[in-house]
Amino acid sequence: MMANHRISFPAALVATFAMAVAAPALAKGPAPDPAVKDFQRVVDAAYAKYKDLKDGKNADYIPILTETPSDLFGVVIVTKDGKVYSAGDVDYKFSIQSVSKPFTAALVMAQQGPGVLREKIGVEPTGMSFNSKLALAVYEDSVNPLVNAGAIAAVSLVQATSEQDRWNRISQNLSDFAGQPLTVLEKVYESEYTTAFGNRGIANLLYNWGRLYSEPEEALRVYTRQCSVGVSARDLGMMGATLANGGVNPLTKKQVMPAKHVPELLAVMATAGFYDESGDWMYTAGLPAKTGVGGGIVAVVPGRFAIAAFSPRLNEAGNSVRSLNAIRDIAGELGVGVFGPNPD
Ligand code: DON
Repeated sequence: MMANHRISFPAALVATFAMAVAAPALAKGPAPDPAVKDFQRVVDAAYAKYKDLKDGKNADYIPILTETPSDLFGVVIVTKDGKVYSAGDVDYKFSIQSVSKPFTAALVMAQQGPGVLREKIGVEPTGMSFNSKLALAVYEDSVNPLVNAGAIAAVSLVQATSEQDRWNRISQNLSDFAGQPLTVLEKVYESEYTTAFGNRGIANLLYNWGRLYSEPEEALRVYTRQCSVGVSARDLGMMGATLANGGVNPLTKKQVMPAKHVPELLAVMATAGFYDESGDWMYTAGLPAKTGVGGGIVAVVPGRFAIAAFSPRLNEAGNSVRSLNAIRDIAGELGVGVFGPNPD
């Protein structure tokens, strides 16, 4: 028997009455986020809980990253209307590293649409480490924009007239997401570029296989500059809040990427943002996120806010130990996993 979807006359009257009653509330604007009252409490609690955790170690394959003071730690929530709730070292500038990757993928989407990202880079998670060369051979036509190979390809795919123009567009885009000018930490750039033998190999292999869209050394230089951009945990929070806010920066109100493509970007972050730990991360925290070997992580609660953290000591997968624990706790405490609350 077919279900009866027609609203009976009395039901329609009730619905009309309910809308009339609700109308004055709507006129006052959207209801406040129910989690807001707890933001400072959960940020302070996560900071206090993990402040003395010493697990993991600074990245050392980029030599200068060993010099970042390992005890730095900051945690922040930034809401889609730009309110900031923070604890610890949230203004210390460190290199953005791989947290830059989704934002350049967003630029490719904004310029050319999500289909180009899917066809020319691919969005399958590799399930392998962020610098895996094996993944390149296994996934011949999908290198994922959030691992090094796909991120170098994304840089090469940005439409630009010259290397300088490519860099200007990428740099401007990162600053637009942050809502303020970001600059390169030149010492990090020098340290990474002079030791970038693995990434140079990846860029050359991609070029050889027709999956790089600029000259390889240009892509490597611009990619390395992108990874060397200095950000604070607060900046990462603002960048995430821009995604939470449908691509509109909460401070400048600039539409940085089309709102309609934010879900596709968050899907890539959910499936590959933590590399070979992405499944475990989604299982336990339930939020699209991106990590970087500088120690930063940003997670997005779609339509609501971002949680970001910074701490230099990393686990084996290259993810910041204190940052991931703090963000996961906050997500659980607030019950904001995208598939439902994840209280354990
Ligand atoms: O290309 C690299 O290896 C670095 N610039 C970025 C790697 C990274 O941040 C991995 N993240 N956890």
